[in-house]
Amino acid sequence: MVEKIGTIISTENSPTSQDISFVLEKPVNKEQFIEYDTQQGKAIARVSKVRKSNIFYHNPESVSESVKNNVKLEDHFPTSEREQLIGEGKILGIYGDNNLIKRPSFPPSPGTDIYPADKERLSKFLGLDHEKGLNIGTVQFQDLEANINLTKLFQKHMALLAQSGAGKSYLASVIIEEILDREKEDGNIGIVAVDPHGEYAGFGRDKDYGGKVEVFKGRDIQIGLKNLTPGKLFQYFPNVSAPQKRKMRKILNEIRSEMLKGNGAYDLEHLERKVEEAEMPQKTKEIWKTRIGQMKSMDLFGLYDQPSLDKVEQGKMVVLDLSDIIYDKKKQIITAYFGDRLFKERMNSNIPPFLFLVEEAHNFAPENKPSDIAIARSVIKKIAREGRKFHASLGLISQRPVGLSTTALSQCNTHIILRITNPNDLERIKKSSEGVTSDVINSISGLRVGEGIVVGEAVDYPTFISVRERKSEEFETGKNLEEAAKEYLEEEIEEKNEIDAFM
Ligand SMILES: Nc1ncnc2c1ncn2[C@@H]1O[C@H](COP(=O)(O)OP(=O)(O)OP(=O)(O)O)[C@@H](O)[C@H]1O
Ligand SMILES: [Mg+2]
Repeated sequence: MVEKIGTIISTENSPTSQDISFVLEKPVNKEQFIEYDTQQGKAIARVSKVRKSNIFYHNPESVSESVKNNVKLEDHFPTSEREQLIGEGKILGIYGDNNLIKRPSFPPSPGTDIYPADKERLSKFLGLDHEKGLNIGTVQFQDLEANINLTKLFQKHMALLAQSGAGKSYLASVIIEEILDREKEDGNIGIVAVDPHGEYAGFGRDKDYGGKVEVFKGRDIQIGLKNLTPGKLFQYFPNVSAPQKRKMRKILNEIRSEMLKGNGAYDLEHLERKVEEAEMPQKTKEIWKTRIGQMKSMDLFGLYDQPSLDKVEQGKMVVLDLSDIIYDKKKQIITAYFGDRLFKERMNSNIPPFLFLVEEAHNFAPENKPSDIAIARSVIKKIAREGRKFHASLGLISQRPVGLSTTALSQCNTHIILRITNPNDLERIKKSSEGVTSDVINSISGLRVGEGIVVGEAVDYPTFISVRERKSEEFETGKNLEEAAKEYLEEEIEEKNEIDAFM
């Protein structure tokens, strides 16, 4: 038996077909879902405000008078007995015979009983998937698991947005766990994570997940020259003239046709020799030799791709751990190259549907940076625009929504937003996230670590969630400033002692 929590009252402005006010017998939380009976079926409403009221304090003159006279109203009247908790609610819809009426046209009657929303009805209303959905936590203030349907979450891409320290990587890890734990029979995807800070590398060492995760350190990542098309080469190493490009294209095509007899693999030395032998103006030769020198110094180009794309498997994750790479351009090229390869291989159905998870997405797909710096942006935008047709999904994670490509962000049809307080970022969220009203914006800045809101395709109504605890072990990724300073001091003392001992 569900207990009644309140009664609809009549106020100056309510009830209407959209708004209700109710006096509460039990406390409720803002954003909680409630329901009541109507002739058409069960109505679902969201608590938009909770306030207190007391008849003894309604009249400003009498309150002010008693203050002046140093009289405490509570000493003379049973004030505490008359304190009322009053809720306000937005009516969201009415469930008739299993179908939802989104815009009820008639107000409920004052005196109608209010109940907490029924779990099953609410789950249906929010569009959750309790059979096979990804369990990312619970719906806030509700005894209801937040199980999000995989297709709804990823087919049209996801953006995970919040300020630093709000729990983005933690939630991303929870989502990763759900995918790694998911049965293949339920339809599963593979994950490739671009991990600039090595936050997901811990999965590779985890006792439960290690077997399903392979981590590639920046120094071990390699691009097979045979897969480097002229187009990609010119994109990664721009500022060459059209005739210079023509010469290089010719060389690359020649190498390709020669090499096709074998396995097609060749290295930078080989390319350098071919440039040396080719007939072209000395200046062009020098340009390309300089470029090849740059490529060599990056320590990135070799015979084969590492990781090779056949590592992308359903229910498994490949982590591109870029935390040991200093050179930003190298990070950009790796992200651009593997993003592009993933997309192409997926178009040809050579790899399963996948999620390309990009941390620090504002660096890889920035809004306002020239394309010779933001090398990865075009491929991220491409997957954002065209990926859904091929089941190539994007997960963009960013603490700077303002700096993130508008095209990429607007193609992410689900936004999961955790705490954000920066007004510019909030403004951006308001503009780019469907269903985020001013009311929701206020709530976003008040969220605590591990709390968030899901809006867009993945749910049928903006849903506040509390992120569940992760099952995988969280590995320390960074020391705090004090620890780092102390460690430095200790090392310095040790070094000094060693020198002293030697003297
Ligand atoms: N749902 C949660 N439950 C418990 N602890 C959490 C939760 N979410 C985050 N935390 C903790 O809060 C801290 C910050 O989380 P996290 O690293 O995920 O933040 P972030 O948004 O990725 O930050 P950054 O932008 O700096 O990468 C971590 O110590 C993490 O353990
Ligand atoms: Mg993080």
